[in-house]
Amino acid sequence: MEKVPGKKFFIQHPKLTIITMVVVTVFGLSASGLSRENEVADAKNDNISQADRIASVAAFEKVYKVLMSPRCMNCHPAGDVPLQGDDSHLHTMSPVRGRDGKGVYAMKCSNCHQPTNTPGVNTPPGNPKWALPPADMKMVFEGKSARELALQIMDYNRNGHKNKTQLIEHARDTLVKAGWNMGEGRKPPPMPYNEFVAAWDEWINKGGIAPGK
Ligand code: HEC
Ligand code: HEC
Repeated sequence: MEKVPGKKFFIQHPKLTIITMVVVTVFGLSASGLSRENEVADAKNDNISQADRIASVAAFEKVYKVLMSPRCMNCHPAGDVPLQGDDSHLHTMSPVRGRDGKGVYAMKCSNCHQPTNTPGVNTPPGNPKWALPPADMKMVFEGKSARELALQIMDYNRNGHKNKTQLIEHARDTLVKAGWNMGEGRKPPPMPYNEFVAAWDEWINKGGIAPGK
């Protein structure tokens, strides 16, 4: 008897066992309800047809090529310093992210990056929203596999709290469009903007499925 106090307890208090089960079930249900609200595309939903899954993954393979191109990845670095150029080297003079992504006191991005591109080569590209993602949600692309990046972007808690509609809208965001207008001498991403948007929409509308690797 003394060796199994837990067993003794449950045998002597069957009502408590039932209460425990009810409490666990209720908490479990409300927790799954909450996470469903946050789920942007229900990638685990078995209602998505096999054909849609295949089309979704194929569309993401195109999207991934753009995300990993220097025009996008340079602002989505693994560290806290932005990257520059087609070889994605660390930004000269090392401006850092700062809490809001806009730099720190003496080195704000907007000190150099104007609302529009500065004319000439090797000058700062411009946009009114020029910044890195914030410190508490870094949205790193650098070093991520296609699978890792797809899962991250579909995750409400890692994508800047975007639901499916907001993700679709984000492809129309001024900073994303900036990738195709980065000033003289900078190669655009590897496909036209309209093609990227079509692939982006298809990926998300067909389930936001992550590739196998
Ligand atoms: C000047 C820096 C900058 C450039 C260039 C840039 N981004 Fe971003 N990106 C950001 C910032 C800042 C955010 C966070 C703001 C937000 O979520 O609205 C962000 C957020 C995102 C997100 C949503 C978050 C996530 O990771 O799930 C996606 C997707 C994205 N960018 C795609 C792109 C693509 C595609 C390009 C290139 C065509 C690009 N970005 C170029 C700064 C940039
Ligand atoms: C002291 C001026 C200065 C500051 C501050 C600055 N930048 Fe830059 N940035 C530049 C210049 C100049 C270039 C162009 C360099 C070149 O092409 O040789 C550039 C280029 C870039 C590029 C490369 C674009 C590409 O696709 O190749 C990114 C990304 C970038 N800056 C992000 C930022 C971010 C984010 C901040 C703030 C955290 C910032 N910069 C702060 C001057 C600055």
